Amino acid sequence: MIYLTRRERFSAAHRMFRTDLTDEENLNIYGKCSNPMWHGHNYVLKVTVRGEPDPETGYFMNATRLKDIMLERVVEKLDHKNMNLETDFMAGKVATTENLAMAIWYELELPLAEEGATLHCVRVEETENNYVEYYG
Ligand code: NI
Repeated sequence: MIYLTRRERFSAAHRMFRTDLTDEENLNIYGKCSNPMWHGHNYVLKVTVRGEPDPETGYFMNATRLKDIMLERVVEKLDHKNMNLETDFMAGKVATTENLAMAIWYELELPLAEEGATLHCVRVEETENNYVEYYG
C-alpha cells in the first residue's frame, strides 16, 4: 500500500461564531477567531490518498490528477474568499478548522474514489502551530 500526499495552499477569511449566541459569548468560546469584522488565515491543505501501484505505470494515481481535483473541488471555492459566506460546502457550519477538514473530506471522497484512490487523511493547517487531521 502506497500513501500519496499533495499539498495546496489557500488564503481565506472566516469567523467562528454561533448565530444563537451574543458576540461576547462567541468570544468566550472561539476567542479571536470570533471577531465580528472577520479575519483571515493562510491555510495549508494536505490530502493523503492510498492505493496499490499499478505494475505497468508504477503508481495508482497521477499526482497531477490529485492536484486538479483538490483545486477544482476545494481550493478554488476557498482561496481569497469568505468561507462563511461564499463556500458552498461550509454553508451553515461553524468555520472551525475541524469542520473545514470534515467538509473537505466529503467534497473529495467520491471524486477520488472514481479515480481509484482511497482518501486516507485530510489535514488542514490554520497556522504553523495548529492543524487538524480527519480520517473519515
Ligand atoms: Ni481564525
